[in-house]
Amino acid sequence: MTHDGYAAAYRQSLDDPDTFWRTAAERIEWITPPTTILDSSNPPLYRWFTGATLNTCFNALDRHVRDGRGEQPALIHDSPVTGTQQTITYAGLLGRVATFAGALASLGVGSGDRVVIYMPMVPEAVVAMLACARLGAIHSVVFGGFAPAELAARIEDAQPKVVVAASCGIEPTRVVEYKPMLDAALDRSSHKPESVIVFQREQARAAVGERDTDWEEMDWDELVSDAEPADCVEVAATDPLYVLYTSGTTGRPKGIVRDNGGHAVALRWSMDNIYGINPGDVWFTASDVGWVVGHSYIVYAPLLSGATTVLYEGKPVGTPDAGAFWRLIAEHKVRAMFTAPTAYRAIKRDDPNGELMREHDLSSLDTVFLAGERLDPDTYEWATSMLGVPVVDNWWQTETGWPIASNLRGLEPMPLKPGSPSVAVPGYAVAILDESGAPLPAGQEGAICLKLPMPPGTLPTLWGDDQRYVDGYLSTFPGYYVSGDGGLVDEDGYLYVMGRTDDILNVAGHRLSTGSIEAALAGHPDVAECAVIGVADELKGQVPRGLVVLKGGIDGTGAEGERICRELVQRVRDEVGAVAALRQVDIVAALPKTRSGKILRKTMRELADGRTPVVPGTIEDASVLDTLAPVLRKSN
Ligand code: COA
Ligand code: AMP
Repeated sequence: MTHDGYAAAYRQSLDDPDTFWRTAAERIEWITPPTTILDSSNPPLYRWFTGATLNTCFNALDRHVRDGRGEQPALIHDSPVTGTQQTITYAGLLGRVATFAGALASLGVGSGDRVVIYMPMVPEAVVAMLACARLGAIHSVVFGGFAPAELAARIEDAQPKVVVAASCGIEPTRVVEYKPMLDAALDRSSHKPESVIVFQREQARAAVGERDTDWEEMDWDELVSDAEPADCVEVAATDPLYVLYTSGTTGRPKGIVRDNGGHAVALRWSMDNIYGINPGDVWFTASDVGWVVGHSYIVYAPLLSGATTVLYEGKPVGTPDAGAFWRLIAEHKVRAMFTAPTAYRAIKRDDPNGELMREHDLSSLDTVFLAGERLDPDTYEWATSMLGVPVVDNWWQTETGWPIASNLRGLEPMPLKPGSPSVAVPGYAVAILDESGAPLPAGQEGAICLKLPMPPGTLPTLWGDDQRYVDGYLSTFPGYYVSGDGGLVDEDGYLYVMGRTDDILNVAGHRLSTGSIEAALAGHPDVAECAVIGVADELKGQVPRGLVVLKGGIDGTGAEGERICRELVQRVRDEVGAVAALRQVDIVAALPKTRSGKILRKTMRELADGRTPVVPGTIEDASVLDTLAPVLRKSN
C-alpha cells in the first residue's frame, strides 16, 4: 500500500518536526511569531513554540470577524430538551465573549487565574470558556454529570478564583439542579473561590446570594448587564489555556494541562487534515463540553478553523427518539459528525433497520467519526451500511487532546479496516512495547506507547505536579509516554486498540476511576473493604460492578443485604454521579488478593466477562476465587 501524502507528512513530522510544525504554525495568528519550534531543553518535559505569544480567543473569533466571517454562524445550539434552537454568528459570539470577559475582569480575573465552569450544553458554557481564553485565565470545565465529591476534588486542586455554574442541566427524565451540588462541593472543599456566577435557567432557578458564604454569589445576567467588553490579552504559547481533570486509577483526578500555542496549531491542523473540515463547513460533535472531545471538537477546533459548530443539548435516543441525529444533520446541513460508538449502539438498539434515518435528507453528510471507546466491528458495519458514508474510528485520550491514530480524511483517505482506528497521525511515534520496554514486531500485542517528544497540543505536564506526570506516564519506559492502552500494529501499519491495561473504566465513552467509585463504597459505615471492576456491557461498552465485604457481625443476607446494596448504589450516585451507572453491588465473603495485599481486579474482570482468568502465582488464597466465580458470572 502506498500513501504518498500521508507517508511523506508522517515521515517529515518525525524526522524534521521543526519544519513540519513551523509550517502548521503559519495558519495561526501570532502576536510574536515562533522562532523556537520544539524546545527540548528540559527532557523528558518538552515544550512547543517557547517565546512566541498569541491569544487563542482571537484566533477562534476576532480574526474570523475581521476577515469577513462575522455573519456566518459560529455556533448552533440545538436543544430538544428545552425545545429551543439558537444560531449565533461569529460577530454575535465575539460580542458575548468580550462582554463576559469584561464581567470576569471586573471580578479581578486575569492571566493565570483559574475559573471552574460547571455547566451543561448551553452556549454560555462556550462563552465562559472563550472569555477565559480571552483574558489569559485558565478554565477548568467540570462535566455536569459529576456529583459534589468529584466537583470538590477538582475545585480543591485547581483553586479557582471564580466558579461559573448554570442553575440546572436537563436530562430527558429530570431536571438536575446544579447549585445545590455546587454548594455541597464548596462546603467540602478547603479552597473557596472569591465569586460564584450562576447562569439562571427557567427550568430551575437557583437561590443566589441568599446563604451566608465567604464568597460573593451573583446572577450571570445582572453581572453582564454592567460589563464593558474586554480585549484579548497576549499570552505565551506555553501558558496554560485550560486544565481538564481526567480519571486515573486512584480517586484523585489528574489535571491535564493544555497550552495555548501548541493546542491552537495542532487543532487547526487536525480539522482539515484528519476530519476534512474547512472554513464554512457545518460540523456536529455529540459529546459534552465537560469531556476532551467537547473541548477540542465542539469548541476549539471548529472555531479556530472558521467552521460552524453544532452544540447539541440532547441524547442520541429519547429526545425524542433514535432519529435525533438524523434530524440535526438534515436541518443544519451537517457535513461531518463525531460522537462515541455507544451513541450508535443506542440508535441501533432502538431503530435497527434505520427507519427513522430514512425520514431525513442526509445528503450533506460526508463522514462519521467515532471515538472515546473501542469501535466494535458490529457497530462499524451497521453504521456504514445504514449511512453509506465512511465511518472513521479515531483513538486518543484527554492527555493528547487530539487523535493519535486515525484515517486522515483530509490529508489522504485510506482503506478502513473494521476494529482499527487506522494509522498513527503525523507527530505521533507510536510504539508497541513488551514488559521490558523492547519494541514488538507487527502483529504482537503489548503496551501502546508514544516515543517522546509528543507533538504540539499534547499535555506538557499535570497541573502543579510535574513529578506526578513523570512518575505516572514517563518513567515505566524511559523516552516513552505510556498510554495505558494495550494493542498491536499490523503489517500495514494499522493500529488495533484492545483496551486499558490499568483499572480505568470506560462507561458509555465516559472515563471513570475505579478509585473514586471505591471511595464512595468504602465510605458506607457497614463496608470493611471493596473493589470495583468494569465488566463488558452491550450498550455502554463497560459498566462498573461493585464487590463489598461487610464489617464483622453485619448480616449481609436477605432484606438487610438488599438494603445495604441499595444504599451503596445511591452513595455512588450522590458522590460520583449518576453517570457512573453503578447498578450492581454484591456482598461477598472475601476479595482475591496477592500476598502483598493487592486486589486482583483484572482476574475478577476476566471471570465476570466469562473469560478464563489468568491467576497470578502470588495469589494469597486461591479458594477465594472459587467462591467468587459464581457471583461474578451472574449478572443482574
Ligand atoms: N448531567 C447530569 N446527569 C447526567 C448527565 C449530565 N450531563 N449525563 C448523564 N447523566 C445521567 C443520566 O441522566 C443517567 O441517569 P439515570 O441513571 O438517572 O438514568 C445516568 O447519568 C447515566 O447516563 P448515560 O450514560 O447517558 O446513560 P443512559 O442509559 O441514560 O443513556 C446513552 C445511554 C448511550 C444514550 C448515553 O450514554 C449516551 O448518549 N452516550 C454517548 C456518550 C458520549 O457522548 N460520550 C462522550 C465521549 S465522546
Ligand atoms: P478519554 O481520556 O476520556 O478520552 O479516554 C481515553 C481512553 O478511551 C483511551 O485511553 C482508550 O482506552 C479509550 N478510547 C478512546 N478512543 C478510543 C478508540 N477509538 N478505540 C479504543 N479505545 C478508545
